[in-house]
Amino acid sequence: MKTPQVLTDFVAACRLAAKEPDARSAIVELMRSLVMDTDSLSAAMPAMDTHDSSPVGTLGGDVTLFEDDSVTIVLVDTLPHVLQPPHDHLMTAIIGMFEGCEQQRFWSRTADGIAPAAGRDLLAGEVLVIGTDGIHAIGTCDDIARGIHVYLGSLSNVARSIFHPETLEEQPLSMALYNDYCRAA
Ligand SMILES: [Fe+2]
Repeated sequence: MKTPQVLTDFVAACRLAAKEPDARSAIVELMRSLVMDTDSLSAAMPAMDTHDSSPVGTLGGDVTLFEDDSVTIVLVDTLPHVLQPPHDHLMTAIIGMFEGCEQQRFWSRTADGIAPAAGRDLLAGEVLVIGTDGIHAIGTCDDIARGIHVYLGSLSNVARSIFHPETLEEQPLSMALYNDYCRAA
């Protein structure tokens, strides 16, 4: 993927911001500025990535733009008609949308598992922060959704959980389970 200058600049700014004492606020501000003009950002972005497929359809695709111990930055393309499974990140996640609408479903931990909580639709131009104990699942509200997901840590180097879409049983996250746990929307 040829990375547009606007994303190269955003990655450089996030790397610096991730070292600040209040990295979360600093990166939220950078994200708000990035997605403010959705039309220009959309026009500058590379074509949508669609490499991830599940038994019920193609999910879209993730392109990791940068990852180190302090920050992971991913371009997330999401296609409609698939409900992706609940999972955690074990670190703060900051999501900014620049195209379409990403459906966000949430769960909270209970004494013996997890329980559904209120969700929301995240529209182009909006920014969402998910705390370190957050559990969410993404899909689209209708058509495609494109956004940037920033995590305050090394996302591929933590032992994360995924939850069965019907039983909500918790298991170690793997891409195989992720794809298997997708459901038709
Ligand atoms: Fe996630």
